[in-house]
Amino acid sequence: MSDVHPRKFRIALLPGDGIGPEVTDEAGRLLEAVAVFEPSMTLEMVSFPWNSDYYLEFGSMMPVNGLEILREFDAIYLGAVGNERVPDHIALRQLIFAIRQGFDQYVNLRPVKLLHGGSTPLAGREPKDLDMIFVRENSEGEYSGVGETLFPGTPEEVALQTSVFSRKGVERVIRYAFELARSSDKSLHSISKGNALNFSGVLWDRIFTEICDEYPDVHTESLLVDAAALHLILHPDRFGVVVASNLFGDILTDLGAALVGGLGFAASANLNPTKQFPSMFEPVHGSAPDIAGKKIANPCAALWAAGMLLGYLGYPEWESEIVGAIETVLVAGNVRTPDLGGKSSTTEMTDAVVAVLKMNRAGH
Ligand code: NAI
Ligand code: MG
Repeated sequence: MSDVHPRKFRIALLPGDGIGPEVTDEAGRLLEAVAVFEPSMTLEMVSFPWNSDYYLEFGSMMPVNGLEILREFDAIYLGAVGNERVPDHIALRQLIFAIRQGFDQYVNLRPVKLLHGGSTPLAGREPKDLDMIFVRENSEGEYSGVGETLFPGTPEEVALQTSVFSRKGVERVIRYAFELARSSDKSLHSISKGNALNFSGVLWDRIFTEICDEYPDVHTESLLVDAAALHLILHPDRFGVVVASNLFGDILTDLGAALVGGLGFAASANLNPTKQFPSMFEPVHGSAPDIAGKKIANPCAALWAAGMLLGYLGYPEWESEIVGAIETVLVAGNVRTPDLGGKSSTTEMTDAVVAVLKMNRAGH
């Protein structure tokens, strides 16, 4: 008999639309499997049907007290949202952005890592060359939602979209990235566009330079976003921790995903580092309407995001073990979803990953 008193964690699941529920089911199964192996933890998962169907029925993506409901949970897991019957900017803004901003999840952590057994379109590159992590600003910047449409529907129509860069917002995300670079012994690369964005880009660069002085042990580099796109392809081995604004981080991490085998391998964490509010974990990909319902989505990004959730709850060893198990399955090569050139289903791929975890545990 173990004398460990298990800690109970409550996780809110937001499966969403399209392949969102398909991959969330897999993440849930993985988490349940881990809870069986891990005597110090029990998990309670509660699922909420806040998606496009909910919007069509009730007129909003979540109830008015949605954030209050979620606030009681230790963490949130989101599949993906997006459906042709609801305008994208409504679906995303009313759910994902509402949670990111409402819970001040100002760090969006996105590993860009080529797994053993995975493939990259870059010739001659190996896993050691593609191992970086993006710290994307997640609460303001270009996605702050500030703006206006003037003279709508007329030939004089004008759209104003205002980027918001506050000193507090820029400082805290850059500081987070410095701490991550220091603790993981990686270099830090700041991405901006200070030559053209003469207000926001200049402030970002100035704050980055100021904070540099506090971390003389961290090797740093400041890059313009266009040059960064080029270097990511030509010299991916140069990057360690990368810090970028909301829009630049969004775009460059899809490029990053393409370099490490596609959106099926892009996981992310929306973190409120102060822990005042719950953090949210999600695969980067969307609802993939073109493959929804076919049960062929690659679950690896979703499983990895579940691993990041465990890391955040205080179980970083499980995060590494899950990534390691995905690598074992990829290296073996016999279970692969169609995006990886195989014929396996989403469920078969998850089963294979869980089987490796079981095997590893049996060896403990
Ligand atoms: P998407 O990520 O849904 O799909 C892009 C392409 O990648 C598609 O060909 C899709 O089949 C493929 N793909 C994506 N995830 C995959 C997986 N796990 N396994 C295998 N193939 C995968 O992006 P798209 O098509 O631009 O957007 C579709 C909908 O998703 C839109 O409504 C969009 O607004 C929404 N969206 C939602 C996001 C979220 O919930 N966080 C993020 C991005 C898009
Ligand atoms: Mg994106």
